Amino acid sequence: MQIMDGKKVAAEIKDEIAREVDQIKNSGGKIPHLAAILVGNDPPSETYVAGKVRVCEEVGFKSTLVRFTDDISEERLIEAVRDLNKNPDVDGFIVQLPLPEHISEPNIIESIDPHKDVDGFHPVNIGRMVLGLPSFVSATPAGIIELIRRYDIPTAGRSCLVIGRSNIVGRPLSNLLSLKRYPGNATVTLAHSKTTNLPGLILESDIIIAALGSPEFITGEMIKEGAVVIDVGITRVKSDFTKSGYKLIGDVKFDEVAPKCSFITPVPGGVGPMTIISLLRNTLLASKSKRFG
Ligand code: GUN
Repeated sequence: MQIMDGKKVAAEIKDEIAREVDQIKNSGGKIPHLAAILVGNDPPSETYVAGKVRVCEEVGFKSTLVRFTDDISEERLIEAVRDLNKNPDVDGFIVQLPLPEHISEPNIIESIDPHKDVDGFHPVNIGRMVLGLPSFVSATPAGIIELIRRYDIPTAGRSCLVIGRSNIVGRPLSNLLSLKRYPGNATVTLAHSKTTNLPGLILESDIIIAALGSPEFITGEMIKEGAVVIDVGITRVKSDFTKSGYKLIGDVKFDEVAPKCSFITPVPGGVGPMTIISLLRNTLLASKSKRFG
């Protein structure tokens, strides 16, 4: 059994990006610039955005945080998006989700210039990704694909079960893994809350991607010997044994499942650290104007 160490791989990629930014600076090029729009003060969103800004600074990117109170109108938010679309100094930007209920997320996402949509949420980017064309791919699926690549995990012809059909994780990932390339060429099943016989599907799968958000749902007896298990779940639960008073639990009962696996991601330290890195990679791509590529 081999652990897929997302923390280590993410640190390597961060170094690669930082070196590239150094070269850009030394040759007098434009420093990559990521902007983030944050509406309201939802605590997890505050944490995510602060993390994104911090990592940007660590690799030498420029970053800008644009904040609005949660009573902002949809029209005003679209105006702010258009300002960033037009701003030549901003290479890419994100609008942190979720947004307040009176604002339509699809309307906001569709107002983002697809060339600056480093979250890969715009329908143009999703459509291009599904077609296998160069596009910005959203952070978690891109991070998982990169982990599979760096650990050289075979995917062609293998049965791959993606559990969870969110627009941000499960749906894009199921498309990426079925594309005619590596990592891809897998026989993909996308399971969701209406799926019947989920245990049967898990047991016959070579690669299982758990993104259902149900702590320790997948137990040792549910998987076959030699399976690859990628755990996207992060549920925060109270703990007396950590400094913060909380710990993160994945969708997989790691101690039981790991001994049966060929590869497995831990929580924390697996998929999580890879996600922010993907956003940095997309921003670097956007800044080099190698659009969609
Ligand atoms: N909310 C949760 N994850 C994400 C993400 O990757 N991007 C944005 N914009 N919002 C999120």
